[in-house]
Amino acid sequence: MTDTSSMPKRTHYCGELRATHIGSRVTLMGWVHSRRDHGGLIFVDLRDRTGIVQVAINPDISAHAHQQAHALRSEYVIAVTGTVAARPEGTVNPALATGEIEVCAERLQVLNESQPPPFEISDRTEATEAVRLKYRYLDLRRPCMQQVLVTRHRMYQIIRNFLTEHRFLEFETPMLTKSTPEGARDYLVPSRIEPGKFFALPQSPQLFKQILMVAGFDRYFQIVKCFRDEDLRADRQPEFTQVDLELSFVDEEDIYRIIEGLMQRLFQEILGLELTLPFPQLSYRETLDRFGLDKPDTRYGLELCDVTEAVRQSEFKVFAQAIQHGGVVKGLTVKGADFSRKELDDLVMVAKTYGAGGLLWIKLQSDGWQSPVAKFLSDAEKQNIAQRMNAQTGDLLLLVADPSWTTACTAIGNVRLHLIKKMNLQPSQKFAFVWINRFPLLEYDREEKRWVAMHHPFTSPLEEDLPLLETDPGKVRARAYDVVMNGCEIGGGSIRIHRPEVQARMFSLLGIGQEEAELKFGFLLDALKYGAPPHGGLALGLDRLVMLMTGCDSIRDVIAFPKTQKAACLMSGAPSTVDPRQLRELHIKVIGLQT
Ligand code: AMO
Ligand code: AMP
Repeated sequence: MTDTSSMPKRTHYCGELRATHIGSRVTLMGWVHSRRDHGGLIFVDLRDRTGIVQVAINPDISAHAHQQAHALRSEYVIAVTGTVAARPEGTVNPALATGEIEVCAERLQVLNESQPPPFEISDRTEATEAVRLKYRYLDLRRPCMQQVLVTRHRMYQIIRNFLTEHRFLEFETPMLTKSTPEGARDYLVPSRIEPGKFFALPQSPQLFKQILMVAGFDRYFQIVKCFRDEDLRADRQPEFTQVDLELSFVDEEDIYRIIEGLMQRLFQEILGLELTLPFPQLSYRETLDRFGLDKPDTRYGLELCDVTEAVRQSEFKVFAQAIQHGGVVKGLTVKGADFSRKELDDLVMVAKTYGAGGLLWIKLQSDGWQSPVAKFLSDAEKQNIAQRMNAQTGDLLLLVADPSWTTACTAIGNVRLHLIKKMNLQPSQKFAFVWINRFPLLEYDREEKRWVAMHHPFTSPLEEDLPLLETDPGKVRARAYDVVMNGCEIGGGSIRIHRPEVQARMFSLLGIGQEEAELKFGFLLDALKYGAPPHGGLALGLDRLVMLMTGCDSIRDVIAFPKTQKAACLMSGAPSTVDPRQLRELHIKVIGLQT
C-alpha cells in the first residue's frame, strides 16, 4: 500500500551520509536498489541521485517498519526515517562512499510501488540500447548515467561562468528561422499562417550571431540546440548542442586563447587535470601530410611520409601513373607488424574504401623484400624507398600512390587509424588538443561541377590569398579553424567576411547570384553595409566534449533523450503521423507513401 498522505520532510540525500552523521536522525527518500532479508534483519540499499546508503530494518526497533519492508521490491519509492549508526565491525564496505554507516530505520513509508523493471538498474547492464532508450527513465536511473548528466550540468555552469568572466553576453536566437548555410539538410516546419511557406530549424545560429556583432554586443555566447538532418554516427545526432561564440575586433589567436582558457578551466574543475597551453597548431596542409586527416589523433606517432621523390623515376605503372598526373606516393612505416595475408587484404580494403586505387605492402624480411611489387622495382628504387621510409628489417611498409594528394593522404591516413585500433597502440597521453587552420576556402563539388564553401560562405579568405580568388580558387586558404581533441572535431569556426565587396566576390565564386543571395541571406548582407565590425567566432560541439571528458563511446550516452541512428525517439515514438486535421490546416498532403 502506498501512502503519501503524511509524507515527512527529507533531511539528507542518501549518498551524502558519512561517519560524521553518526547519531543524527535523518529522513531519506529514494528508490529501493536492493533488499536482503536476513530473517530478523532486513537490509535495503536505498538509492537517490547522490548514491546508495544501507538501511537496516530491525523488528526490535520498529515492528511496523519491518512489516512494511517485507513488501518492498526493486524500484519501490520509499521514505525512511531513522538514526545513522556505525556499521558493526567487519561489515564496513570500503567500495561504497557511505560504507562506514547505515541507517537504522524507525519509520518506513512506501511512497510508490513499481512494476519489476525490464532490466536491472546497475552500471553493468545487459539490456540492449533499444530497450534502454525505450525505458530511458529507468536507464537514466543507472548511477553511471546520472554521473554523466551531473557532469554535463557542471560543465554548463563552468562554461557560463568562464564566458561571463570574459565579458560574453548570453543570448537566445530563434528556433523558427530561415535555412542557414552549414550545408546539411534542414528540418522544416510548415507555417500555418502562410501556407506553402516553411521555417527551418537552425543548423546553427550563424547568421544571428553575426548580426549581434553588427548590433554592437561585442561578445556573444549561447548554449544552443542545432538541428541537422544528416547521416548519423556515434558522434552525430540530428539535434545536438553547441557552445556558440562570436567576438568582435579579434583575430584567430584571440579566439584560440578564449577556447584554450575555457578548456583549461573545464579540465581543471571536472577532471582535476592541468592542460598545457597553448594548444599546438597545424595547417590543413600539414595535418594531411603528416596524419592524412583533418582531425588527427596526435597521441600516436605513426606519421606518414612522402615517398614521391624516392620513386619519381620509377617505371612501375602504379607510381608512374600517379606521378605523371601530378600526384604523390604516401607511405607509412609500421614497426612490429607481422600480418597475415588476410590482415594485409583488410588494410588494402580500408585504403580502397577511402578512394585509393590500392595499397602496396612490403614486408622487410631478413632475406629481403616480400611484396607483390618486389619484382617491378629495381634494387636502387627499393633502397631509395627503404631509406626514405626509415625502414628496418621486420618493418611493414605501406604505400598509396594517387594523382590526388588529398586522396593519397586520406586513404593512408585512414589505414593509420585502422592500425592504431588493430594493433592496440598506446596513446602518449590521455588528452591531446590541436588547432587545425588554414583550411581551403573552397571545395570543388564534382557532381554539381561548382565550388562550394568548405566551412560556410561567410568565412573570410586569408588576406594574402585574396588575389587568387578569381584566378585559382582552389588554392585560396580560409581564416577557418577547428579544434580537435583525440582525433575528434570538437569545434570549428572562422574569422568572417565583414566587407560587403568581399562577400559579393565570394558569392559570385560560389555561383550564388545576387537574387539568390538576397533571398537567402539578404538580412545579413544588408547588415554588413551598416558598419559591421571585423568579427569571428567558433562553436564547440558540447555533446562530443562531454562524451570525451566522461569517457563515453557514444554521444547518445551523454544526451538525456537522444535519437537512434534512424533519428527516432524510442521513448516518445517521435517522429509520428499526425491528425489529418493538422495537415489540412497546414495545407499539406502526404503523397507517394508506401505502407
Ligand atoms: P560546425 O558545423 O563545424 O560549425 O559545428 C560546430 C561543432 O558542432 C559539432 N557538431 C555536431 N555534434 C553532434 N552532432 C552533429 N550532427 C554535429 N554537427 C556538428 C562539432 C562541430 O565542430 N556556425 C559554425 C560555427 C562557426 O563558424 O562559428 C558551425 O556550426 O563538434
Ligand atoms: P593492379 O595492377 O591493380 O593489380 O595492382 C598491383 C598492386 O598495386 C596491387 O597490390 C594493388 O593493391 C596495388 N595498387 C594499385 N593501385 C595502387 C595505388 N594507387 N597505390 C598503391 N598501390 C596500388
